[in-house]
Amino acid sequence: MEVESRVHDIALLSKETIPEEYIRLKDEQPGITTVQGKTLEVPVIDFGDPDHENVIRQVVEASREWGMFQIVNHEIPYDIIRKLQQVGKEFFELPSEEKEVYAKPPDSNSVEGYGTKLQKEVEGKKGWVDHLFHRIWPPSAINYKFWPKNPPSYRETNEEYAKHMHGVVEKLFKSLSVGVGLEKDELRKAAGGDELVYLLKINYYPPCPRPNLALGVVAHTDMSFITILVPNDVQGLQAFRDGHWYDVKYIPNALVIHIGDQMEIISNGKYKSVLHRTTVNKEQTRMSWPVFLEPPADFEVGPHPKLVNDQNPPKFKTKKYSDFVYCKLNKIPQ
Ligand code: SIN
Ligand code: FE2
Repeated sequence: MEVESRVHDIALLSKETIPEEYIRLKDEQPGITTVQGKTLEVPVIDFGDPDHENVIRQVVEASREWGMFQIVNHEIPYDIIRKLQQVGKEFFELPSEEKEVYAKPPDSNSVEGYGTKLQKEVEGKKGWVDHLFHRIWPPSAINYKFWPKNPPSYRETNEEYAKHMHGVVEKLFKSLSVGVGLEKDELRKAAGGDELVYLLKINYYPPCPRPNLALGVVAHTDMSFITILVPNDVQGLQAFRDGHWYDVKYIPNALVIHIGDQMEIISNGKYKSVLHRTTVNKEQTRMSWPVFLEPPADFEVGPHPKLVNDQNPPKFKTKKYSDFVYCKLNKIPQ
């Protein structure tokens, strides 16, 4: 079996150059395609605002117009986020042999595990990033085989983080449900209800000698309903807006929210998934912790029946989530 190279090891080979397969084609190179000198100010929503109607309005508008926003004054304690970042960083700094114990099995049809390549590569080009995926909720969906045992507090910290996410998840689903004219619990129910999966990914982007030529994660929309992401403080997230790529302003302690494909589908196009990508840094390691809120693998998702009628025919097919994921990762038209 061919052993996959990790970007962590590639990054140690040279301080000046990167291998050819990490050099993007010109139409993707961030040095050429990024709007310089301007960060994109995506909507920032204050979840501490006592005017709940106002919060709902802002969530709905941002999800329709941007597919992306940031939340400040959310109820996840900062020290829990700090610890989540610390234990994740400690895992990625372990010697390779210790990390490889958690490598995604080659025959697995789930994304869980330590890995590098996620989707089929276009023109043989690779992203400058390693990752670890594992589910953190609900308990019945957790496979502790993919949770690092080192550092020892990894498990407790991740369980704690999952528990503290529920309030934000609920608020987002309720707002988005009301925003398309459904009862407040209807969207969440159609998205999997109590079986809604929280899938954590940790992205690890080592320093890159030629950051203008490489990309971390290539342009994509998330497959989830909603993604709740915390980055470290190294700039790198970019969004595509009005035909151009912009850096998204980093706001300390904010949660970054992406509307994903499943939300666009279930809302029959009312909400828009956001096209985004990541750049890498010459000196610093960037890391991020997205949590994808997604249905169980065998759950069928399509436009919500109450949102389609003769005037509004379904814009998307209804299909099993696992089939959707398979098509997307293998670049088969949906
Ligand atoms: C991703 O979209 O997968 C990564 C986003 C980030 O690292 O900020
Ligand atoms: Fe993403």
